[in-house]
Amino acid sequence: MIVILDFGSQYSELIARRIRETQVYSEVLSYRTTAEKLRQLNPKGIILSGGPNSVYDNRAPQCDPDIWELGIPVLGVCYGMQLMVKQLGGQVEKAVRGEYGKASLRIDDPTDLLTNVEDGSIMWMSHGDSCTRLPEGFSILAHTENTLCAAIADHEKKLFGVQFHPEVVHSVDGIALIRNFVYHICECEPTWTTEAFVDETIREIRAKVRDKRVLLALSGGVDSSTLAFLLHQAIGDNLTCMFIDQGFMRKGEPERLMDIFDKQFHIPVEYVNARDRFLKQLEGVIDPEKKRRLIGHEFIQVFEEESKRLGPFDYLAQGTLYPDVIESADTNIDPKTGERVAVKIKSHHNVGGLPKDLRFKLVEPLRKLFKDEVRKVGRSIGLPEEIVRRHPFPGPGLAIRIIGEVTSERLNILRDADFVVRDEIGKQGMYHDFWQAFAVLLPIRSVGVMGDQRTYAHPIVLRLISSEDGMTADWSKVPYDLLETISNRIVNEVKGVNRVVYDITSKPPGTIEWE
Ligand code: XMP
Repeated sequence: MIVILDFGSQYSELIARRIRETQVYSEVLSYRTTAEKLRQLNPKGIILSGGPNSVYDNRAPQCDPDIWELGIPVLGVCYGMQLMVKQLGGQVEKAVRGEYGKASLRIDDPTDLLTNVEDGSIMWMSHGDSCTRLPEGFSILAHTENTLCAAIADHEKKLFGVQFHPEVVHSVDGIALIRNFVYHICECEPTWTTEAFVDETIREIRAKVRDKRVLLALSGGVDSSTLAFLLHQAIGDNLTCMFIDQGFMRKGEPERLMDIFDKQFHIPVEYVNARDRFLKQLEGVIDPEKKRRLIGHEFIQVFEEESKRLGPFDYLAQGTLYPDVIESADTNIDPKTGERVAVKIKSHHNVGGLPKDLRFKLVEPLRKLFKDEVRKVGRSIGLPEEIVRRHPFPGPGLAIRIIGEVTSERLNILRDADFVVRDEIGKQGMYHDFWQAFAVLLPIRSVGVMGDQRTYAHPIVLRLISSEDGMTADWSKVPYDLLETISNRIVNEVKGVNRVVYDITSKPPGTIEWE
């Protein structure tokens, strides 16, 4: 294992993912982790991340200085390197000229860390401070035009530092450098593979759950579906999957979900038709956050009733992923038992938690994984590609894509329009060109003319989005022909719609959803 000590860099998770891409397990821990704790964890290497501070700030985060004496190889990245320099007696100062963006790396010592990194290779820099005097025992491995100490090493103690960010894609040989550190300097073996994860996780689930019963709320997304497949392989019929149909899914999706799980893969699913209940809750409600709250609350009600009806259960399976664990480290521990307990249901992470008296023990087999690793696991245990690569879909579903009140008539209009969008991009082989692609129904009407008839009906907004992670997004520059076909089809095929508009707002300033 490689441990990444996080000093607040936006790239700490990315470093962890890059390490895992070399098939070596990695974890992100707080910079406060003590040397003693690290000694117990016994990682093969430690990486100190970048961070927003200057090492000479009064309140700059420090690491335990005993880390340098552990005998474990360390790689400091940006702030991590500067901290290493400062704590070991060198000097860091505000640079005459900071360096931001691409820089050409000139190699002075092509051994260990920089093996196979080309002289002149482009690396991504982002720093205002520079190392101006090296600690004893260190030498320079590489420089750039503006930075004398771009990469440094104490070869004997296996302490390394790079001023640039090898983890970002713009750093061309960054991955070669990471591989050198992981394989040659830390001597890790590439054992973190999907197959090994699946085998080990199934063993762990069996050991933990034994003959007890587990409940899983299936949503049809990749996380809960992968979870269902894994648990079913591990404990068979002791798993109960429950699918609560709120009535806000896309056309044909509930049926397809039941088809895939029940018929194709023989994983029984308890289908709960709660459509009327949810619709009733939303009567007259316009405010988006109120919609979310009510849907979340109703979901918990139904969940509670149905789990009582189907139960009792010993465990609740939850699709917690590694980024949730990093963010919420140690917050959800039951003080009595020391076990992690459910305080929220993942598919409704934004809408409140489970009531206090409903405290299941948890199984969270995906809690070590990043999203892309979940997809790999899903694929390797036979999850169909249509689920593995499904676009993200919000927990409250179509209800937050109907601006204004949600009624069954409006749900039907949006569901039909949304179907056309998906059908058409599917036919044109463009489904995977988008992060998300959907329709939004507006609560206004506009005048149109069809045949000789005046119409007065709703507009539909098309939202076709490209994004890496949903945090920022851009509207997709699709061919006009595609927009034209979708527009024609919606107006012709969906009763109640006479106009289609295309949303050309990026995020920020817009959000992906309209509510
Ligand atoms: P926004 O609209 O905030 O969306 O740009 C970012 C991503 O989050 C999804 N989203 C939600 N997911 N419950 C969810 O589970 C919600 O209430 C919710 N709102 C937005 C959205 O689809 C996009 O992928």
